[in-house]
Formats: sequence, C-alpha cells, structure tokens
Amino acid sequence: MFSDEQIQQETERLYQKLQHVGFGKALCQMFAPLTLEINKIKKEKNAVILAHSYQTPDILYGIADFQGDSYQLSKNAQETDADVIVFCGVRFMAETAKILNPTKTVLLPSPAAGCSLAESITAEDVRKLKAQYPGVPVVTYVNTSAEVKAECDACCTSANALKIIEAFPNESIIFIPDKFMAQNMQKLTTKKLIAWDGSCIVHEEFKVSKIQQFKQKYPGLKVLAHTECAPEVVEASDFAGGTNDMMRYVEKTEAPSYMLVTECGLNDRMRAEFPEKDFLGMCGLCPYMKQNTLGLILEALKNPKPGQVIEMSEEMRKGAERSLLKMFELSQAVPAVEKNPVHI
Ligand code: 13P
Ligand code: SF4
Repeated sequence: MFSDEQIQQETERLYQKLQHVGFGKALCQMFAPLTLEINKIKKEKNAVILAHSYQTPDILYGIADFQGDSYQLSKNAQETDADVIVFCGVRFMAETAKILNPTKTVLLPSPAAGCSLAESITAEDVRKLKAQYPGVPVVTYVNTSAEVKAECDACCTSANALKIIEAFPNESIIFIPDKFMAQNMQKLTTKKLIAWDGSCIVHEEFKVSKIQQFKQKYPGLKVLAHTECAPEVVEASDFAGGTNDMMRYVEKTEAPSYMLVTECGLNDRMRAEFPEKDFLGMCGLCPYMKQNTLGLILEALKNPKPGQVIEMSEEMRKGAERSLLKMFELSQAVPAVEKNPVHI
C-alpha cells in the first residue's frame, strides 16, 4: 500500500524522536506502515488524536496531534473542530472529551482502558456522602466516571486541585476519590477536606526508601512525584504536581539527573522531549493506560466497535458538563495559588 520510499521516510521521521527512548531503526520500520495508515485515515475522516503523556512513544510521537495531561487534553477536546476525537488515554478522559464536545464522535481505542481511581466510587456513593454532609460542596478529581461528575459541584485535575478547593467559600469540602491527593492538598489548605478511600494502583506503590537510596547514590538528583503519591513520598521529593507541571519543572531547571515518581510513560516522553537530560530510577506501569495500541487505534478509526465509541445519556452529560465547566470557570477566576503544584 505504501511505497518503499514512503516507508523509509516514515521510519526516519519516527526514529528522530524514538531513538531517544531506545527504539532502533528496525522497530521504527515495523511501526511505519501502521503510523502512515493511521495518519492517512485521520486526514480522510477529519479526526484528531489526543494522547496522554502515559501512552507509549509510538502513539505519542507517531500519530498524536496533541500530547499532554488530563487538563490540557480536555481543553484540546473542547476546542477542536475535527469531526472525530480519538482519545488515547483512559475512559474518564475520553468521556470528558464527549461531555465537552458532544456533537463529535469520541473513540477510545481500548474499551478496557479504565482507572482504579474512577472505579473506586459510584454516583450512589456520592449521593450518600452528600446526605451525610449536607451543604458541603463536592470537588471531584477528574479521574471519575461521567455519572459521578454529574453528582458533584466541580471537577479538578492534578494541575489545579488546590486552586479549585480554595475557590469555594466553604470551610469544609468533600474531595473525592483520591485519598492521597486529598492528604497532599490538606497540607496546603486550612479547609477541612473530607476524603474518599480511593487510590491509584500505580502511585500508591512508590516507597520513600527507594527515593532515599537514589538520592544517596546520585548527588544532585531531583525527584519529582505526582500528587497521587502518598504524602510521605511527596515530602521526600523535591517537587510534586501533575504530569504537565513535572514537564515544566524539568524544562526550567538544570540538574545532573531527574527521577520521575509516576507512570513510566512520562519518562519516555521526557527522554524524547529533553534528550540532553538524564532520567533515572523508578517508575510504574499503568495497565489501563497501556491498553491502547496502534492496531486498536487503526481499528477504531476505520470501523469502530460499539465498545470503542463513547456514549452517554444527555441528562448525565449535562450534569457532568456543569462540574467540568465550573472547574474551567474557577481556574480562570481565581489567581494562581502559590503552592499548587507543590514546591517542597
Ligand atoms: P495528569 O492529569 O497529571 O496527567 O494525571 C492523570 C493521571 O491519570 C495520573 O495518574
Ligand atoms: Fe488511573 Fe493511576 Fe492509571 Fe492514572 S495511572 S489512569 S490514576 S490507574
């Protein structure tokens, strides 16, 4: 279908970026026919591909139009005039795209791309919390289902959690579903946060002892932790925030090496973006994020199966949209909060 010359050119294009994450020319050549075909169909169908920074490098640098954190991608989804949005991330992110841009076809290549945080809480759980704490606003981390968002007052992401908490005049806030993010934010606010018992299966695994070992072995190492990590891990780190915050920190600082205490995809992304910098140490794999593959993306674009198309009732969509729009309104209205992201 593609000429040898086209394959060769595509191999070179992929290799320019992917060599920095250890992909050889042979591997790039293997991906080339797939990325060429996806990019061709993407144009024919007027589709846009959004990829979270935890996706694999072949997706991020082979076919994605936008790469970033959940906040940035939600804005990209809201603003696009493409007919089709292919969301290479997890279900709550694809749902967010549909909520914000409902006339578009939104595709999630792998129906199995869930999230342990999103699965930790149901709409019924939120209704019970609201009955238990009448009048207390509910802020939900964006890692929740559309049904849960529809029950809440505002969403937040790792990029603006503290800002959204502070924007409410109330002294108490129900903050769901990530107990570690709630504990991390509790240290930065005088408000009382009422937390849910959810956690991320990737970030809950990181241990302080590993950070200490690496710090001892590599003088000058800067440790960056995602705010989904346990508070003691955040405290042992030099910086904490969301994935885009971490990228900005690396861009703006000079250190002999960096350790990213988060999902391994961000290490690859950083290596591709900052090939002159050194990234080492621990990371974890998110089994949900890694469900998407070039093969599934091609299948979804060509002829999506029902499980790959994001659908929801208009009532639920409207409720969830209210929470998301509240987040956008508050993150613009309130001046930047000094400590979010968390500088230790
Ligand atoms: P970010 O919004 O920081 O990219 O985080 C999303 C996520 O799922 C982290 O595990
Ligand atoms: Fe969910 Fe954790 Fe995976 Fe992010 S890394 S999608 S929070 S399970």
